[in-house]
Amino acid sequence: MTHFRFIDDALHCEGVPVQELAEEFGTPLYVYSKQQLVENFRRIDGAFAGTDHVTCYALKANSNHTILRTLASEGAGADAVSAGEIHLALRAGFDPAKVTFAGVGKRDDEIEYALGKGIFAFNVESLQELEVINGIAGRVGVPARVALRVNPDIDASTHPYISTGLKTNKFGIDISVAVEAFRYAASLPHLRVEGIHTHIGSQILKLEPFEQTARTVVHLVRELRSAGIGIHHIDFGGGFGVTYRNALRHPLLPHEAVNPADEAPPNDAFIAAVLPVLKEAGCTLVIEPGRSIVADTGLLVTKVLYRKDNGVKKFVIVDAGMNDLIRPSLYNAYHQIVPLTLRQREADAVDVVGPVCETGDFFARERMLPEVERGEYLAVLTAGAYGIVNASHYNARLRPAEVLVNGEKVRVVGERETFDDL
Ligand SMILES: Cc1ncc(COP(=O)(O)O)c(C=O)c1O
Repeated sequence: MTHFRFIDDALHCEGVPVQELAEEFGTPLYVYSKQQLVENFRRIDGAFAGTDHVTCYALKANSNHTILRTLASEGAGADAVSAGEIHLALRAGFDPAKVTFAGVGKRDDEIEYALGKGIFAFNVESLQELEVINGIAGRVGVPARVALRVNPDIDASTHPYISTGLKTNKFGIDISVAVEAFRYAASLPHLRVEGIHTHIGSQILKLEPFEQTARTVVHLVRELRSAGIGIHHIDFGGGFGVTYRNALRHPLLPHEAVNPADEAPPNDAFIAAVLPVLKEAGCTLVIEPGRSIVADTGLLVTKVLYRKDNGVKKFVIVDAGMNDLIRPSLYNAYHQIVPLTLRQREADAVDVVGPVCETGDFFARERMLPEVERGEYLAVLTAGAYGIVNASHYNARLRPAEVLVNGEKVRVVGERETFDDL
């Protein structure tokens, strides 16, 4: 989080104190750093150093229009999982020839929509989906470019809800029957079989699962070529993990215990680890990073409403809830939480909870936090990915507003909702 830092004990996003943003725009508020966004993209994309490739940003991580426009203007492609996401990508200026369409459950109307837009490739997840796309492509008279998503049965050692490359997951076509599946796809008259797709999970912190997947995919390209099936591109997916613990360090912040296994390698290390292997295939390379581009680009600001001590536990009750950022409730995800202003004070183990009527509505449990007061603001860090996109109106709560900081400039990029939005 290089563009979020404490200057004179006040948390800043680039050149702007976050407290000023909270006071001007209210809370809950997502704050994004444009420079962090651009740097993250350039670092990942730049790691390909001269190799024919496309970095397709995975919209699911954050589909804010300004974020999309920024990435499109950097030359990014887009990875979409619905017709809605294809629509958002095109509206933001992404080139349709750089848009991939993934997902196990594409509806017929979505397939037809994508065909009409001339996207780069459908990442196909089953034999039946191949048949359906072939049928629709024949009916509308537009051949469909497809990549087959293979499930390599590789353990990405991540949370079970975001692991996708195991036989027991719903994703992709089993690697053991991949050659037959490609043969079948090649026999369908309205398909152009162009690529292999794989994506083994999200928030993966180790390089080995990626290295293993790269070797498996390149081996498959060779097998397919000997079977007479040419492969033009490898779409290697996303999943590059980020560091959530100790995103910010400061002598006035409580020390957070760290397991070295929770530390992510730098963004470009993932590419560097697999590039030599993938290059052997002589294909165009595609990746689909989401989290690694936007997670540390954003934080969520929330206000302390109440403190409560029931004799067993201490609670800090804040004005953001699981409807604003669901990751802790959904998979016990860790986000560092810091006050916007640091000063010498006692620290206590507290649960930071929201106002939603669910026990699962929490941001942290038994977390050492400086003793904060009613009315004070807290920042939930590294919240740019899978944050606002998962926000809901649960409990008839309004979704958070969003602002983007660029140097000293601040722009509202997501309006604060009103009751009319409910
Ligand atoms: C097919 C596909 N590609 C890319 C991504 C993006 O993953 P991440 O945000 O971990 O980079 C996902 C996320 O689950 C995905 O399912």
